[in-house]
Amino acid sequence: MKKYYITTPLYYVNSKPHIGHAYTTIAADVLARYLRSREKEVFFQTGTDEHGSNIEKTARLHGIEPQKWADDVARDFRNLWKTLHIDYDNFIRTTDAAHVKQVQLIFEKLIKDDEVYKGKYEGLYCSSCENFFDESELVEGKCPVHKKNAEKVREETYFFRLSKYEKPLLEYYKNNPGFLSPAYRANEILRFVEGGLKDISVSRTRVAWGIQISSDPAHTIYVWFDALLNYITGAGFELGNKNEKFDKTWPADVQLVGKEIYRFHAVIWPAMLMALGLPLPKKVYAHGWWTVDGEKMSKSRGNIVNPEDVVREYGLDPLRYFIFREVPFGQDGDFSNNSLKQRYNSELANDLGNLFSRTVNMINKYLDSEMPEKPGPSPLLEEMNAVQKGIDADIENLQFGSALDKIWKAVSVLNKKVDTEKPWVMAKTDPEKLKSFLHEMVWCLRLISSWLYPFMPDTSAKMHMHLAIGKPRAADVEPKKIEPLFPRKQ
Ligand code: MSP
Repeated sequence: MKKYYITTPLYYVNSKPHIGHAYTTIAADVLARYLRSREKEVFFQTGTDEHGSNIEKTARLHGIEPQKWADDVARDFRNLWKTLHIDYDNFIRTTDAAHVKQVQLIFEKLIKDDEVYKGKYEGLYCSSCENFFDESELVEGKCPVHKKNAEKVREETYFFRLSKYEKPLLEYYKNNPGFLSPAYRANEILRFVEGGLKDISVSRTRVAWGIQISSDPAHTIYVWFDALLNYITGAGFELGNKNEKFDKTWPADVQLVGKEIYRFHAVIWPAMLMALGLPLPKKVYAHGWWTVDGEKMSKSRGNIVNPEDVVREYGLDPLRYFIFREVPFGQDGDFSNNSLKQRYNSELANDLGNLFSRTVNMINKYLDSEMPEKPGPSPLLEEMNAVQKGIDADIENLQFGSALDKIWKAVSVLNKKVDTEKPWVMAKTDPEKLKSFLHEMVWCLRLISSWLYPFMPDTSAKMHMHLAIGKPRAADVEPKKIEPLFPRKQ
């Protein structure tokens, strides 16, 4: 059985992990958890991108050898993923010996197959992007991303025959409409490829911190060419050898990336795979960017959001919830403490937290903690089953915000039901009706806790426990006291 393969980009180790990195990784984790809970076998890979002149420069600036620097920052990333409960299957580093070896072998093969050739390059280069630009792409002579002057660079370099793949790529996009996702981002790529592709430079003589070309050690391999290959090397690809793990994993099902690195993943990467005669990923999905209080996040502005701080203040699940509830996955959004606090108090503490604690308290008070058997069919349960179908479809389409909207609509239906049907009155007038009402409520909350699982695994587990799933009575649950799921914030 083929595994469902999900990737995140490999994060550069020249800065500490922040909310932008956490975003892509938590998204991958939500999808992976959802699929695993549906009994799918998943391979979820993330990791770090460790070569290139930027990283070398940063390390030396701190008086540290690049490898040691990369070791430290890779550890920071892994620690953060632990804090954020990221349940990945593989963490790959581009300095891993197995990756380095495969990249070198692949490069030699591409030279041999004339997919890569030696030539001379003259162009405008942004050292922060590690990318060459056309004159027309620059804004007033500056790199459009970093707003830095692009330097004129002339060097001997190896080129990858990207131009050869213009038509095959267009053909692939046409025949695989789900590949460029979300659909509203497809146009940008189509226009770019239709505009004509040029061969790209894929080696550097001026960058020492990189993977050497075995047959021409004066060159190191362009950091992007090296890093993109992680998606196959991490899945077990071995040039010339059959590898069972790779056969069970590749092609990737979903590759998640930020919008600024979409071209690399939607154009260069598939062309590299074509050159290697390998199948292409099924979907490359680009999400938007977070600003903070309306401003671009940057070191100089000092407004970089560290996910650890958010977790310390609000807890992990509120963070995992907020980033997907606040913005449709795909679009840009703004991170603000006000909005986070507002959603925390109203949607988590009030809507979900109250519904949960008042229901369990009523079960304890009125029904001596007796929990329900599966209730018979009812309009409410039918409604909930329909919601479930919608949520499944949303998550499979990476519409995480829309899935959360549906869950919160269901929470609000249940809260309204408690308000209008007044179980505390039923307790006096009709104990049988009260019992079936509360049992139905518990059943619905059990469903909600299962829907929340991919987004908020800890909250789901807490709910799961107090809703006494697998236990006959709530009183059999330890600890017996129900703490609020989300204590209100002042
Ligand atoms: N190393 C390359 C990727 C190589 S993949 C073969 C790289 N690394 S990165 O560390 O700069 O960024 C990686 C991811 O972080 C991207 O998906 C990017 O979109 C995400 N984010 C970085 N800042 C972000 C925001 N402010 N908002 C949302 N995501 C952003 O690019």
